[in-house]
Amino acid sequence: MDVFRVEGKGPLEGEIQVGGSKNAALPILAACLLTKEKVTLRNVPNLSDIRFMVEILKYLGAQVENPETGTWTITSSDISHVAPYDLVRKMRASVCLIGPLVGRLRRAEVSIPGGCVIGPRPIDLHLKGLGKLNCKVEISNGYIDIDASEIRGSHIFLGGRSGSTVTGTANLLMAAVLAPGITRIESAACEPEIVDLCKMLTRMGAHIENIGSPELIITGVDQLHGCEHSVIPDRIEAGTFIAAAAITRGHVKIKGIPHTFLGAFLDKVQEAELPLEIAEDSITVLPYKGSLKPVDIITLPYPGFPTDLQAQMCALMSKTEGISIITERIYPNRFMHIPELQRMGADIAIEGASAIIKGPCNFSGAPVMASDLRASAALILAGFAAKGTTWVQRIYHLDRGYESFEQKLSSIGAHIERLPEKELPKDLIE
Ligand code: EPU
Repeated sequence: MDVFRVEGKGPLEGEIQVGGSKNAALPILAACLLTKEKVTLRNVPNLSDIRFMVEILKYLGAQVENPETGTWTITSSDISHVAPYDLVRKMRASVCLIGPLVGRLRRAEVSIPGGCVIGPRPIDLHLKGLGKLNCKVEISNGYIDIDASEIRGSHIFLGGRSGSTVTGTANLLMAAVLAPGITRIESAACEPEIVDLCKMLTRMGAHIENIGSPELIITGVDQLHGCEHSVIPDRIEAGTFIAAAAITRGHVKIKGIPHTFLGAFLDKVQEAELPLEIAEDSITVLPYKGSLKPVDIITLPYPGFPTDLQAQMCALMSKTEGISIITERIYPNRFMHIPELQRMGADIAIEGASAIIKGPCNFSGAPVMASDLRASAALILAGFAAKGTTWVQRIYHLDRGYESFEQKLSSIGAHIERLPEKELPKDLIE
């Protein structure tokens, strides 16, 4: 296993390009199973989660090629309906195979993904929606077994306790595009990643109305065809770069991101008085004097503040003078980064689903453990603002969702180096 050595050495400066979105690419790869014809995908990020999904598609029988970095062609002429535990357990997002298998084969047997460190990740809403589409759903031996031989369009209210579900919406969309009749999904997720999936499905011949709204109307078609599609930029990667620039008081132009993807996040960093220059396709973080202002944030489904930028914001607000309150409404336990930030000097108390952050702290480098993807990013950002060396362990979490993270950040002056675990200082080796 590798580790990161991070040094806090002043402002980041320069230009950085945002890559393709992981959370858009994963359901889009699964959607390739909906047609026998070839689908060409571009701007797919090179990440371990993408490789896991490709592995599953191959197992199911798809012919997959990767002619150049970022481009994949997938031809699913003859596929099977069983996704086994061995493959599914590696990545929770493999649950989004259910929709395309049900749509195309009228049958799916997908292992239930295991637990997740950020809290419970139920799939009851996915199953409720499939039931509404007249599918027979059974759970046995750790598998979800779906008989969709009599699938038909229906009205589904998909909202849950925390609002809409992203992967649930993706699954039901992919099942409904090939289901006879009209399906109306109410309280559908409106995330840009769902809009991108709808656009790709439309290119394949699907009929979807009200794309981007919480009420999607799908008219089933008999079959879909191949298409070419370019995946949208990753708004969470862009937000992470903005936070990295801000925490180092840097001057960084983040290129290739429409600002509309980051509305609530930009609103909050502007409320904190971070100076920004916002153009059509780029966001520039400008240097500032003094301290940013504290903010009060609640994570919510899009267009609310994204849970996937909560940890990075905790790191930034730790360096900000005053008291910030960050409330996590999507995954109330998603605070695993906080004890590690505390070890680096942050003053944070957790009260229920809220983190109360008293700043500014003086971060000092420490050995820390990454617990999940976004927590890893938060610890690295704290390391950029810390005095001394931070060793971040378990960085395989980061590799799931950030493409060439250390190369991109090094190119704007960050001191971050990937090293084999044996390079850890002796007293840190177990
Ligand atoms: N929920 C239910 N029942 C369900 C499904 C979801 O109660 O059947 C609840 C969840 O427990 C949660 C909320 O609904 O409280 C939202 O969950 P959602 O289904 O929207 O999450 P997801 O689709 O499993 C995606 C991203 C996550 C991101 C969330 C929220 C992918 C592959 N994953 O997960 O990304 O945090 O939406 O925006 O798209 C990450 O990239 O680090 C990551 C965790």
